Amino acid sequence: MNTLNVNGREHTVDIDPSTPILWTLRDTLGMTGTKFGCGAALCGACTVHLDGNAIRSCITPISAAASGKITTIEAITDGSDKVGAAVHAAWVKHDVAQCGYCQSGQIMSATAFLKSLPKGKQPTAAEIDAAMAGNICRCGTYARIRSAVADAAK
Ligand code: FES
Repeated sequence: MNTLNVNGREHTVDIDPSTPILWTLRDTLGMTGTKFGCGAALCGACTVHLDGNAIRSCITPISAAASGKITTIEAITDGSDKVGAAVHAAWVKHDVAQCGYCQSGQIMSATAFLKSLPKGKQPTAAEIDAAMAGNICRCGTYARIRSAVADAAK
């Protein structure tokens, strides 16, 4: 048995500790907001937070989160996270999503990035691009992602 804290709730799961967080969220807990893209830490679609840091849930086993707190897109978009709510609102305002598949991972990376900035710091376009470089968007929505992150930082 493994205990996981996801979005502030404790879950006890009877699965192998080497199971990736991604599949535990999706298949065991029924939380399908986190997406599978490459399964090899290359695309960012599966990004969640572990203790506030953006991680690739496709390659991170649940054993790595045994004493940590996992945050998923479901918590970011329910309005309870102030920075996440600002990112979500900016995503809607800038009409970022095209097919939408990568966007939960994009929002998780953007939220972790903005939380890492010193208070009041407005990131440059280059800083935003660097922070978001690990999240691939096949539709090429990068210009709108950059605008939305800059807007959410205000
Ligand atoms: Fe995890 Fe692509 S699915 S990085």
